[in-house]
Amino acid sequence: MSGSDQASQDWIASTGEPIRGEIRVPGDKSVSHRAIMLGALADGVSEIDGFLEGEDTRATAAAFAAMGVRIEATGDGRRTVHGVGLHGLEAPAQAIDCGNAGTGMRLLAGLLAGQAFDSKLVGDASLSRRPMRRVTEPLARMGARIDTADGGVPPLRIHGNSALQGIEFNTPIASAQVKSAVLLAGLYARGTTEVREPHPTRDYTERMLSAMGWPIEFSPGFARLQGGGQLKPVRINVPADISSAAFFIVAATVVPGSDLLLRGVGLNPRRTGLLDALRAMGADISVLDPREEGGEPVGDLRIRSAALHGIEVPVELVPDMIDEFPALFVAAAAADGVTRVRGAAELRVKESDRIALMSTGLRSLGIRVEETPDGADIHGGLLQGGEIDSGGDHRIAMSFVVAAQLAKGPVRISDCANVATSFPGFMELATSAGLNVAPAGD
Ligand code: S3P
Repeated sequence: MSGSDQASQDWIASTGEPIRGEIRVPGDKSVSHRAIMLGALADGVSEIDGFLEGEDTRATAAAFAAMGVRIEATGDGRRTVHGVGLHGLEAPAQAIDCGNAGTGMRLLAGLLAGQAFDSKLVGDASLSRRPMRRVTEPLARMGARIDTADGGVPPLRIHGNSALQGIEFNTPIASAQVKSAVLLAGLYARGTTEVREPHPTRDYTERMLSAMGWPIEFSPGFARLQGGGQLKPVRINVPADISSAAFFIVAATVVPGSDLLLRGVGLNPRRTGLLDALRAMGADISVLDPREEGGEPVGDLRIRSAALHGIEVPVELVPDMIDEFPALFVAAAAADGVTRVRGAAELRVKESDRIALMSTGLRSLGIRVEETPDGADIHGGLLQGGEIDSGGDHRIAMSFVVAAQLAKGPVRISDCANVATSFPGFMELATSAGLNVAPAGD
């Protein structure tokens, strides 16, 4: 069951302690989804360590279990995936519920387009509003037959037994989900599939395919592979998710007296835009013990509090920090001067309209924000207490927990159950690090 179907859960957050100690946030969501998917298609047994025990990634694991893949949970964050090979999936008996997960649904659409059976993908209320034509259109060009609901939204009905043909796809949207859907369909297609992006996006699909022995050429903004082949099973170490670390990075930066160590954070260059933006604003972030784990750059991040000033966020950083804008908005509210965000219209079609919800929420805490279609100008200032609508969006909820640490009064945040989609145990970990957040008593 996805979080938004559960009883609405409100939280109260307010000023806490300086943010201190050593913590490790849960595993990366993008890597966890792909580890299950590609592990399921491999010939043999893959081991995953550091798997995100969140609702989104568990929904993906459940989807493959429903298609006959044995996935053993051998411990917290551990999965043994008994891959069935590229053509070994079985028709699911029911519709596959992707919950809140856009990544789950869009990548599955590409992968299922190449199967011999029909399937149907459904999602929760938020996912059911999100645009799917960005994947169904290129997949249709490859020969896939996928029906959407009116307006190009879920559910997706995917017709099996389509003969797929490789394409050269110049995607108009910088989206790793779109790129990955096309590449996964490309595994099943005749000939070559090639994707070019307007700005480079995260390349976990390409890296994992390559690590599993599938010939693939890729460089920032480009990927090319041939259909037909085999995936070798692998051991996958999932790094800590920098998108979950983001809330602690901003909290430790803006709460005076903080000094925090975040262990084992994934530092793939397509994900570190927030670090660049915050450093440009004056943040004190150092990377300790940079290393490689399972083919991914990883490091420990030490964050000490620092005075921030507003910046114009460079547009080229946008894809590299696309999930971190809610947290960045909070840093901007705490900064001296104006922070300008542009070129980020994608934020309007995430789990919620993140530009609207962050702008409205910050305004209700006393911050001046001017919205534009593709961004906002955020004027740093003093935060007051108030009431926030998270829109059921996990990252909006966690961002306002951070904002509340600076507020003059308590902040009540509605509908926080979906934090469990990406960050199980957030409240406990946040509290252990010094943040003040608790369930609201009615
Ligand atoms: C993801 C890609 C991003 C990101 C999402 C995860 C992925 O979406 O927002 O949380 O795992 O490929 P887009 O690629 O659509 O921007």
